[in-house]
Amino acid sequence: MITRRSLFAGGASLGLAAALGASPVRAAARRAPLSDPFQLGVASGEPTPDGVVLWTRLAMDPVALDGLGGMPDRVVPVHWQLASDENFRHVVRQGVEQARRESAHSVHVELDGLRPGAEYFYRFRAEGEISEVGRTLTAPAPGARSRPLNLSFTSCADYQTGWFTPYRRMAEDHPDLIAFLGDYIYEYGDYKYPVRDQAGGECLDLAGYRLRHAQHKADPESRLAHAIAPWVVVWDDHDIENAWAGDVPEQPDPPFLARRAAAFQAYYENMPLRRAQRPDGPALRLYRTIRWGAVANLHMLDTRQYRDLYACTGRSGTIGADCAERLAPNRTMLGGEQESWLDGQLKDSQATWDLLGQQVFLMEMDWTNGEGKGYSNEGWDGYVASRNRLTAAIDDYRRNAVVLTGDVHSH
Ligand SMILES: [Fe+2]
Repeated sequence: MITRRSLFAGGASLGLAAALGASPVRAAARRAPLSDPFQLGVASGEPTPDGVVLWTRLAMDPVALDGLGGMPDRVVPVHWQLASDENFRHVVRQGVEQARRESAHSVHVELDGLRPGAEYFYRFRAEGEISEVGRTLTAPAPGARSRPLNLSFTSCADYQTGWFTPYRRMAEDHPDLIAFLGDYIYEYGDYKYPVRDQAGGECLDLAGYRLRHAQHKADPESRLAHAIAPWVVVWDDHDIENAWAGDVPEQPDPPFLARRAAAFQAYYENMPLRRAQRPDGPALRLYRTIRWGAVANLHMLDTRQYRDLYACTGRSGTIGADCAERLAPNRTMLGGEQESWLDGQLKDSQATWDLLGQQVFLMEMDWTNGEGKGYSNEGWDGYVASRNRLTAAIDDYRRNAVVLTGDVHSH
């Protein structure tokens, strides 16, 4: 079994030393030689009992303003290896993927046929450079209790309001799985970035979203967290635009569905997702279940793409108890398809725990001090009937449910 020290030492010998030893660490991306195409690190995700996705995206200049990472306009072969040991003495699988400009030189390797509940190590090679080593896991076999689930979850990685120290701490915890619950980026303008000021504009198009994702991935502490365990991700609003709801944006410009398509494209390119989660224009099915033997089913929900518009005001904000629309029985947070899918997942679940990975406050919450009630119409309080159907399903099917929520930047 790998230790933190041995993984980090292995990484250091493969070029992560600058990332770990630099002070301030933020400067690492600037100092790295342009020839290093692995400045966005490596990641894995979507574990099943026999497979996992390996990810990298090549970038020699992560903050190139066109969002293309300073990569040449050509196909770049990316060799990958999967081993059962961190020193790659026992390589169990290897191959080559083609990194193409139309997908921002991202690479998604979907593996199957692996052993369940097993630890693996992976790395990439391109342009004569070798990436850092990532550690990943397959899920336990169906019904197995052979392995507990050590889960980390996080959300709301707002680069402009704090360093990514928590990502380093997560890596040190050595989890089995990392769930990301939304707001992996913030699309804001006035984005303070220490490498290149011009990169601080609002994300409005594909170049902007690609660039913002690259800023986050190039961070040395972000790289540590992505290399330590498989990730399972969902978005919230800021991955696209503040407070978007279904097809309705907060700001009318640029045209929203084109903007959403660009954000979804960049999201897919920069996350260890499966081909099943490739966007189709402004549509991407992100809700899904990750199974961890008999221990847990992790249902990752999308509370943004299919929700009804905000009750009573049409805009995200606080509404009073006099807002009757929030109680309307036909209102939906998940959309009909996702809601019936989730009902089926809970009904059929055999796991001890059903974890709901989702974006916004589920429980009733009065945000007004003293007299009167004030509810957020962006959380489930604005979709009360939808919430009642979910809690009734948990009750009816006698599930041990745990709700994991991002959004409010609190625990
Ligand atoms: Fe957030």
